[in-house]
Amino acid sequence: MRLSVIGCGYLGAVHAAAMASIGHEVVGIDVDENKIASLSRGEAPFFEPGLQEILSEGLASGNLTFTTDMSAARGAKVHFVGVGTPQQKDGYAADLTYVNAAVDALIPHLAEGDIVAGKSTVPVGTAQTLAARVDPTGATLVWNPEFLREGFAVKDTVDPDRLVAGVPTGEPGERAADILRQVYHPSVTKGTPFIVTDLATAELVKVAANAFLATKISFINAMAEIAEVTGADVTTLADAIGHDARIGRRFLGAGIGFGGGCLPKDIRAFSARAEELGRGESVAFLREIDAINMRRRDRAVDLTVAALGGSVFKKNITVLGAAFKPHSDDTRDSPALDVAVRLHGLGAWVTVTDPEAIDNARRIHPQLNYVHDRDEALRAADAIIVVTEWDQYRRELHPEHAATLTTGRIVIDGRNCLDATAWRNAGWDYHGMGRP
Ligand code: UDX
Repeated sequence: MRLSVIGCGYLGAVHAAAMASIGHEVVGIDVDENKIASLSRGEAPFFEPGLQEILSEGLASGNLTFTTDMSAARGAKVHFVGVGTPQQKDGYAADLTYVNAAVDALIPHLAEGDIVAGKSTVPVGTAQTLAARVDPTGATLVWNPEFLREGFAVKDTVDPDRLVAGVPTGEPGERAADILRQVYHPSVTKGTPFIVTDLATAELVKVAANAFLATKISFINAMAEIAEVTGADVTTLADAIGHDARIGRRFLGAGIGFGGGCLPKDIRAFSARAEELGRGESVAFLREIDAINMRRRDRAVDLTVAALGGSVFKKNITVLGAAFKPHSDDTRDSPALDVAVRLHGLGAWVTVTDPEAIDNARRIHPQLNYVHDRDEALRAADAIIVVTEWDQYRRELHPEHAATLTTGRIVIDGRNCLDATAWRNAGWDYHGMGRP
């Protein structure tokens, strides 16, 4: 099927390449000339496992093209809209400027029977407003939220856990749902749940899923806070409650908390939207979820200060990680970088290393010292703090080896990802998050 994808950022670029990889003819459209030039050359503009391969294959087969010219959307059966919805500069609400601009630019190129499928994360009610603008063209607006995780974006797009299609009532909605089933035929054939619902429910599914995940993480971090004053161990607690199938162990990793381009901004936008709807109290707990999350960054800094005897001033601290999570070069709202910046603010000599995210980190925080090589970064450190659980630190950094490089023997495990016993046995002063 011929498809267009409007917006070639994280979501759109992956979606375009993934749709081409399952046999569709796809044009990716973006206003950013540099992004389009790089994608057209087959260069993924960010680090995402597997993306480079499907991008090159799509371009080579002729199934995938990129352009800044919106008229290239003409002739596509489905137009996916995957532009960003960042947090507003002066508040918590989502900024819909890009979604509105993309739909307005697309409208003149729509034909009777086309489907416009919104994928961006939007405040509930947005789709209904957009539908009123799209309807006069004879096209049908549907909402098809995206649940991809960075680091697994290609897998999550090609083989998702579920597909959600919010469609209008009646025949146009049924037809649109059928067309989406054809778009996602490999997943549908495989039996992936395909949930057809109304526009508002589809929009809400996305924000509710992210709110739940954020709540799970902050819940366990709240337990870490209690563990810290009682001498309990939050990782054992998470294992024990996680065995209950109703709870589950995933997303119960206590540490410096969540960040990235989605969870923080999405829970804030959800709060703002609920308030607009007069239901602020229904999700008032999300403010607490956010507050718990931000406190974990303070805790990591406090632990480091205490471990270094009450001050980090002029101490060499090596920060292992800059990305908001492993398998990503994304530093947007990264708790890892935030901790590094705060330590620097307290007068520490901070050296940051990361397998993928240094360039992005340097762009936002040029004041920090960046070193590509992990061992080079560890040299002469008074303390180490692990803030992104890359395998290079979690599995491949042995405490005996680290001790040959550093000056001090202090390790703060901001992600509870190290083997505490092994580090202690090797003579290190080990500090976890919510662990004795
Ligand atoms: C998230 C959602 O998972 C995805 O479905 C949605 O489409 C976009 O937002 P992503 O931002 O890629 O995806 O990251 P995710 O894997 O969810 O992790 C988010 C943050 O939570 C990271 O900073 C991670 O380190 C942190 N986290 C995750 C924890 O602190 N503890 C955990 O147990 C799990």
